[in-house]
Amino acid sequence: MDFKLKDIAAQQGRVAIVTGANNGIGFETTLAMAKYGFKVVMACRNLAKAQQAKANILGKWPAADLEILQVDLSDLDSVGAFAQSFKQRYDRLDVLINNAGVLVYSGKKNKAGIELQFATNHLGHFLLTNLLLELMPDDSASRIVALSSLAHLNAEIYFDDLNCETASDAGAAYGQSKLANLLFADELNRRLGKAGRKIVALAVHPGGSDSGLFDEMSWVMYYTFKILSPFILHSNASAAKPTLFAALSPEVRGGEYFGPQGFMEFRGKVGIAKRSDYSRREDIATKLWEVSEKMTAQSFVIEGLYQ
Ligand SMILES: NC(=O)c1ccc[n+]([C@@H]2O[C@H](COP(=O)([O-])OP(=O)(O)OC[C@H]3O[C@@H](n4cnc5c(N)ncnc54)[C@H](OP(=O)(O)O)[C@@H]3O)[C@@H](O)[C@H]2O)c1
Repeated sequence: MDFKLKDIAAQQGRVAIVTGANNGIGFETTLAMAKYGFKVVMACRNLAKAQQAKANILGKWPAADLEILQVDLSDLDSVGAFAQSFKQRYDRLDVLINNAGVLVYSGKKNKAGIELQFATNHLGHFLLTNLLLELMPDDSASRIVALSSLAHLNAEIYFDDLNCETASDAGAAYGQSKLANLLFADELNRRLGKAGRKIVALAVHPGGSDSGLFDEMSWVMYYTFKILSPFILHSNASAAKPTLFAALSPEVRGGEYFGPQGFMEFRGKVGIAKRSDYSRREDIATKLWEVSEKMTAQSFVIEGLYQ
């Protein structure tokens, strides 16, 4: 698949949200979306960092139409407040890019005692999508894009231990959260389809890029990563391409999963990405949806879908 950004028509009048817009892949995604003419709402937890990122984008693209709205995706109250202020300002949302993510090896939890990566990477985005879906035009150009990862390949959803307290692998909780992103995109797309809606939900992985994601690695891993990354990974701008393809291309269909096609899918042109058999399991996706509704204390009902 030879995706050329220049082939995408101008998107004036359309509104996008990019979570985690201030750094790494989210920054590059925001810059590109602004260049296409989207009004981009930068959903960021740290206002100082967000303002700096906005200034940097305006330095590169002075016509960028950007607004910063604060959200801490690890905190469901903050997600609710974000959705409320977005709805006060906008009456439509065309593209929701659920990009923000954390990678921690330390067993951190959010203030409600939920493992931080599951809370931030999955639950925060699950609630955000639930609260904003009603603003999305029923059109195949309306997109909800989930950022998954190669880390989903060896992961499972540990329904009896979502906090991964008993996991022997330090990366289990991150893998679980990225698998949850992929399962959620699939299940959302199925439910949208069953409800007769045209909105497209799909997932991508960016391959690998030297973003801020790896800052919590042990120093040995961190420096090994820093030395190797220029040889095997790609830039954050290239890593944003699967997201942009999913958000903008008229060729995509709901439920698809895109990533780079080069060595080990670390980098390269955008195409259909490899996924685990486990990630295709509809029973797991349905169970995760139900558990997520309980954990966010909010049912996620799609209008037109009778259950
Ligand atoms: N880079 C890779 O190699 C790679 C590989 C596979 C998947 N991914 C996925 O790509 C996505 C983007 O990551 P990245 O690589 O660009 O990492 P990054 O540079 O660390 O950016 C992550 C963004 O998420 C934000 N964020 C973190 N926790 C948040 C919270 N509680 N509320 C709101 N925003 C929060 C960060 O904000 P702060 O700046 O305030 O921390 C930052 O803007 C993630 O979902 C990640 O899992 C990346």
